[in-house]
Amino acid sequence: MLYMDIVSNVHSVIWPYDTMVLKSIFMETKIISCTGEKGGCGKTTLNIILATNLFHLYGKKVVLIDMDNPQYSVYKKRNRDLGQVGSTEMPMFPVERATVQTLEPLIKKYYGTVDFIIVDFPGNLNEEMVRGLLYVEHIFIPFFLDELEIDSTAVFYKTLQRNYLWNENRVLRSVNLFFNRYELVKVNKFDAVRRTLAKAGMPMMEQVVMERTVYRERYRNTLIPIPPTKENGELGLKRFLEEVMRISKN
Ligand SMILES: Nc1ncnc2c1ncn2[C@@H]1O[C@H](COP(=O)(O)OP(=O)(O)OP(=O)(O)O)[C@@H](O)[C@H]1O
Ligand SMILES: [Mg+2]
Repeated sequence: MLYMDIVSNVHSVIWPYDTMVLKSIFMETKIISCTGEKGGCGKTTLNIILATNLFHLYGKKVVLIDMDNPQYSVYKKRNRDLGQVGSTEMPMFPVERATVQTLEPLIKKYYGTVDFIIVDFPGNLNEEMVRGLLYVEHIFIPFFLDELEIDSTAVFYKTLQRNYLWNENRVLRSVNLFFNRYELVKVNKFDAVRRTLAKAGMPMMEQVVMERTVYRERYRNTLIPIPPTKENGELGLKRFLEEVMRISKN
């Protein structure tokens, strides 16, 4: 019931203007999120990496909204990153903290002025998440090979499908699963899972994110993008970022 109550208002909330003329003078904003119900699967890491790299490497205007109340680890991370570089002069995208109550005004503030609003949610379907997800247009769910993780991801996908994707007033346009912490030595296992999920009708992304120490340390950073020289060719993030951008255009 909660879902239905809120969803009917979402379109008018996000886009309060009617005319095409007004629409054309604003930027086409996409609201996206790496999210999932499973703790520790890489949501925050990937939201940060997405935001920083879309901003620096692709010149996108971005805002990163931290809904992980009360930890606010992304917001705190930005402050630590600033402390490390010792300068506030460099180009950077805004990082905002939000609660259920402040998310809507925040989205209104940025909608039409940025390319991407990226939202980082906590790792469980609490009220913050249920309400916050109503504003998200494209969801990217990271997961690993672990059997339990695969099960919980499947359940989460079904929940989204039932409550958001099939709702005729929906804002949500796509849900996309992808492997995070991908390892070439386990390629056969990953391939088997990919086939199983495809058979079950789950929408898997083509690209993967590798297990790499630089993603957890130096380049999980809200200010510094990953230099192409630090990436390993075909399996670097470039292809993943481009797939995210392609999906988000729809
Ligand atoms: N591709 C990767 N390569 C290496 N380490 C990774 C990768 N993705 C995530 N990690 C590491 O896994 C751990 C959990 O990641 P993260 O905090 O992003 O998960 P989360 O889903 O946001 O967790 P929570 O549910 O607690 O919010 C972190 O130490 C992170 O650096
Ligand atoms: Mg997190």
